[in-house]
Amino acid sequence: MSAATMKLFHNPASPFVRKVLVFLHETGQRERVELETVLLSPTSPSAAVNAHNPAGKIPALCLADGSLLHDSRVIVDYIDHQHGGEPLIPRDGAARWRRLTLASLADAVMDAAVLIRYETATRPEEKHWADWLDGQQAKITRALAEFETAASAELPSRFDVASIGVACALGYLDFRQPELSWRKSFPTLAAWYAEVSQRPSMLATQPPV
Ligand code: BEZ
Repeated sequence: MSAATMKLFHNPASPFVRKVLVFLHETGQRERVELETVLLSPTSPSAAVNAHNPAGKIPALCLADGSLLHDSRVIVDYIDHQHGGEPLIPRDGAARWRRLTLASLADAVMDAAVLIRYETATRPEEKHWADWLDGQQAKITRALAEFETAASAELPSRFDVASIGVACALGYLDFRQPELSWRKSFPTLAAWYAEVSQRPSMLATQPPV
């Protein structure tokens, strides 16, 4: 019998969903959550998701009492309050704000990369807005430069909210922008990612092939 008491509206391609799943694995709670796979994009929303989350976005987590949590930042905070181990989101002090700020930058990379994906995969090519695409890509490059610095000391210190976010952002870039070749420009980050991408939580949540 399944031990699941919660339901996660999910798509295996979403880096935000992956972040939540990695949190569940790393905190030993994966079995508590059943997955409901949904297909959605800005032009083809999911009625099932809309019925629960007015923002129409995933991930969204249905709790045992029927209440719903979204978005991924709220969900990982909830998950981190449901286990007895060392928190993956520091509860206070300077570490809390630094790790959350790195995590926010990782979310910005995911946002930009997902927007690029939607623009290039769902809009007719003649309608692509080149300057806007360049602006999103530049945001990603600037963030990777900051992660390259962080990869020397900050990212290796723990696999927590910051490191999980950066790892999931890099995984999504490899998935949707395999031509990007970011490893050449950011070798320290590449070495760090080569190691953390072998963690069981990352291997169990890889994007679809
Ligand atoms: C994707 O196919 O890249 C994707 C799917 C769902 C959410 C975000 C991204």
